[in-house]
Amino acid sequence: MTYLLKGGRIIDPSQGIDRIADLLIIDELIDSMEPKSIPKDAEIIDVSEKIVIPGLVDMHVHSREPGEEYKETIETASKAAVAGGFTTIVTMANTKPPIDTADRITFIYKLGSEALSNVYPVGAVTKGLAGRELAEFADMVEAGAVAFSDDGRPIENSELMRNALAYSSQLEIPILVHEEDTLLSEQGQIHEGEVSSISGMKGIPTQAETSMIARDLGLLKISGGKLHIQHVSAAESIDLIRDAKTNGLPVTCEVTPHHLLLNEMIILKSNFHSKYKMLPPLRGEEDREALVEGLIDGAVDAIATDHAPHAVFEKDNPFDISLPGVIGLETAFALIWTKFVREEILTPLRAIELMSTAPAKILDLPAGSLGSGSIADVTVIDPNHLWTVDPSKFFSKSRNTPFEGWELNCKVVMTIVKGKIVFNELIS
Ligand code: DOR
Repeated sequence: MTYLLKGGRIIDPSQGIDRIADLLIIDELIDSMEPKSIPKDAEIIDVSEKIVIPGLVDMHVHSREPGEEYKETIETASKAAVAGGFTTIVTMANTKPPIDTADRITFIYKLGSEALSNVYPVGAVTKGLAGRELAEFADMVEAGAVAFSDDGRPIENSELMRNALAYSSQLEIPILVHEEDTLLSEQGQIHEGEVSSISGMKGIPTQAETSMIARDLGLLKISGGKLHIQHVSAAESIDLIRDAKTNGLPVTCEVTPHHLLLNEMIILKSNFHSKYKMLPPLRGEEDREALVEGLIDGAVDAIATDHAPHAVFEKDNPFDISLPGVIGLETAFALIWTKFVREEILTPLRAIELMSTAPAKILDLPAGSLGSGSIADVTVIDPNHLWTVDPSKFFSKSRNTPFEGWELNCKVVMTIVKGKIVFNELIS
């Protein structure tokens, strides 16, 4: 198919572009911006008043397949993804069984080949996510693993972590880490701070995260490799990462929309509603502000959802027995645009870089650009579309969002993956 997206505001951080232009897509590829001639068979799509951006990349998605298909599948996660403007999702290895062999990486690609979005699997760092023995990295890379992670769990054994980083250096792919000292966080439900003191609920201290980050930055110095820190939640963590970057260490990190927009007080105000339970926990306001500061000054590289679907029977429980995790694919971009771009905290270019160009670069994925010859993964946004988050309308199988009822002013209206329109709510 040939499409001409006509008259839109094109924002492409990979080329530093933010201007009105036409975009020609021929088959799977971006042909050009402002083409000299338009093929006769081109379908012209009027995107005036809309914004055209490189398809979003979510580098942190729990698809739950195989093993927990009642929560989500690759198919439903990809439907949720494209509805939220994500053309690429990167799936975590903590499925049942975990993705810890080349065959299982191949299995995810097979499922992904039928999905609406691009799907790239992450392989487990340790066999069975058990933290005892490294998985077969080289085989999994050969099968297409784009990174390694035991996400959901930390890598507690420092020797294993050191070796994982050494392999990462040889294979040139990153280790994505969930930083949590489980001896410090044991039984913890919420941030150890104001709300834990008032309520007596057991807290998870910031140091459960920072001590592991400090360890891994130290190991990175001696092992080399690429280290990416997932769902960073605390101000002190941002300081550590910022300093490491200043010292030239190859570390990157991501933050989630929920840690950027909520703090521990919402848990108190909601009378301990389990929709605010996740790992790491929502922290104090000064932590939230530091994460936002990190987006602006570059200490933070990417925004990722940590889309963690759970069924109603697992989530709608008293706080202490509810499962941790929230979904985010269908709300992330609209939240970031409404709360940070509209409020002029982030420029449009920076917001899109954080959610597309930068995660693609961290994982070396063919995504994040509208340059000529790039794969035609494109998202069209209506920046003046008011809507209210209503989980009953989600494409995801799960409903566990902390943003139900939020009024957002920006909506994904069209998503194109490899030149094919896979989501279309454009009324022209
Ligand atoms: O809240 C979370 N849920 N944090 C994680 O790190 C894992 C995730 C899950 O898999 O449910």
